[in-house]
Amino acid sequence: MGVFKLTSASTNIHHRRISDLEPGKPLIRIRGVRKSYKSAASEFLALAGIDFDVFPGELIGILGKSGAGKTTLVNMITATDHLTAGEIWVGGVAVHKLRENPAAAWRGKNLGVVYQSFHLIPSLSLIQNVMLAMDFNGNYTPLRSRECALDLLSEMEIAEHAYKLPGDISGGQQQRVAIARALANDPPILVADEPTGRLDSATADTIFSIFEKLCSRGHTILMVSHDPSFFRRYSRVLWIADGKLTDEPQFPVEE
Ligand SMILES: Nc1ncnc2c1ncn2[C@@H]1O[C@H](COP(=O)(O)OP(=O)(O)OP(=O)(O)O)[C@@H](O)[C@H]1O
Ligand SMILES: [Mg+2]
Repeated sequence: MGVFKLTSASTNIHHRRISDLEPGKPLIRIRGVRKSYKSAASEFLALAGIDFDVFPGELIGILGKSGAGKTTLVNMITATDHLTAGEIWVGGVAVHKLRENPAAAWRGKNLGVVYQSFHLIPSLSLIQNVMLAMDFNGNYTPLRSRECALDLLSEMEIAEHAYKLPGDISGGQQQRVAIARALANDPPILVADEPTGRLDSATADTIFSIFEKLCSRGHTILMVSHDPSFFRRYSRVLWIADGKLTDEPQFPVEE
């Protein structure tokens, strides 16, 4: 994979970067976040009070075992699901108060999200999936968005499949399309749920290097994973277990 080309794709975007708005202050503030899943018969507390800050330019790893609450936390931060209690502030926006439609518009402008289950639109080709994110945000002309989408798919080494449907490619390839789509609008913040979970270690390494490069340019990344591979390369690691942050490492890590 060559040099990351997002800059050429993104120089036409003139949105204000969240990170420019409050220098030195936390970009993301998570306070007392609780989430319980209720059904008629039972209630399950998936997040039991989460507090942390994220500063601009950080590459945070939130690591924990399966079922620890990582995806639930991602869904709260991205306003994909409603929290039960607590507050989430992103660049001054009270994310916990956003309703569905404003949340989608806010996400489109401020966040790139890589969902664990990809959420690609099955009836659209890979390139259309990436272009749709661009069109939704209105940053590019259709011709330019096609060009930029192809650039991103090339970076993810998936351009040769650009006109296939998601159902006709492998899980790891879908994961790379999901990452390309998350980067479509050059978002100031990227939230990635197991973005390397289906990738071989060489491809995972390439993706992580792209994340590092983005952070060095001032982007902020929150990545959740049950894989300790990149433990040393995050700017900060938070451990999560049973819906709470903990000082207890959840995996053996080399000292
Ligand atoms: N919609 C739901 N209804 C009820 N319980 C749920 C729901 N979604 C998740 N849970 C439960 O909440 C807990 C946390 O789930 P979550 O998906 O956040 O874990 P995770 O850390 O992302 O795990 P993994 O590494 O396997 O992706 C689990 O016990 C799970 O069974
Ligand atoms: Mg998960």
